[in-house]
Amino acid sequence: MSHGLLKGKKGIIFGALNEQSIAWKAALKAREEGAELVLTNTPLSLRLGTMDQLAEQCNALVVPADATSVEDLEGLVDKAMEHFGGQIDFVLHSVGMSPNIRKNKPYEYTNYDFFFKTLDISALSLHKVLGVLYKKDALKEWGSVVALSYIAAQRTFEGYNDMADAKALLESIARSFGLLYGKKAHVRVNTISQSPTRTSAGSGISGMEDMFAYADALSPLGNASASDCADYIVTLFSDLTKHVTMQNLYHDGGFSSTGLNAEVVETYTKGLKKD
Ligand code: NAI
Repeated sequence: MSHGLLKGKKGIIFGALNEQSIAWKAALKAREEGAELVLTNTPLSLRLGTMDQLAEQCNALVVPADATSVEDLEGLVDKAMEHFGGQIDFVLHSVGMSPNIRKNKPYEYTNYDFFFKTLDISALSLHKVLGVLYKKDALKEWGSVVALSYIAAQRTFEGYNDMADAKALLESIARSFGLLYGKKAHVRVNTISQSPTRTSAGSGISGMEDMFAYADALSPLGNASASDCADYIVTLFSDLTKHVTMQNLYHDGGFSSTGLNAEVVETYTKGLKKD
């Protein structure tokens, strides 16, 4: 059911690869709430993925761009402003990739060229996106930028590898730019720290299924799905959250505040007694 929360708003959405992608669900939800959209991803992802279907469903313009290339981002923002006939209300950064994870390089044997790539794609790209928007004065007053993070930025999750460092940097960039863009044009910048979610990026993490089950059991509300995340993203693009900025917002069913859950301990101790 639509509430018209984004009626008249225009936004760019990065990172819809396939129907599982958080960005895919966010695009559908934003459209349902009345937004006009430009969708973007790398040329390779556009070829491999199914974003054309989404573009058709959302009546959106597709502009290929590598989020690590300032030149591509400048072209993207110019095209989006031309398409919308003016400034932009919101941007979703739903981008992440670690070559170390892809190539099964454990953290203690990291490949530093890969590590730089992880940081560039998964964190610095947010700086580049915000930098281009800022310099082009592309965002409207009270605009909103959201990027997706994970709790491994605060606490160590074995197997999350160099993505943990990238997420810590991503959250810091959101705060630093949030201050500058807030002063310039009341633009808010936040990160959402999402539950483990079954997507292409998620499935690359070692032990993802166990991590998913553990987080689901520990969280009083269970894991938040990609669709739930899309709902939350839309509220942050809406005018109902105008003074929320420079925050890392947990969207994880309570996982981040739970120390001990009796049912999880019982399952664990039962397992020990069997051994
Ligand atoms: P996904 O694989 O569907 O989305 C990741 C997107 O990043 C893909 O569309 C990919 O093409 C894009 N991408 C990679 N390199 C790029 C580049 N150089 N330029 C532009 N785009 C590029 O997976 P998902 O899960 O929807 O990921 C979205 C965001 O959510 C990521 O930042 C991820 O780290 C974050 N996240 C995911 C969680 C999960 O368990 N799936 C949990 C918490 C956060």
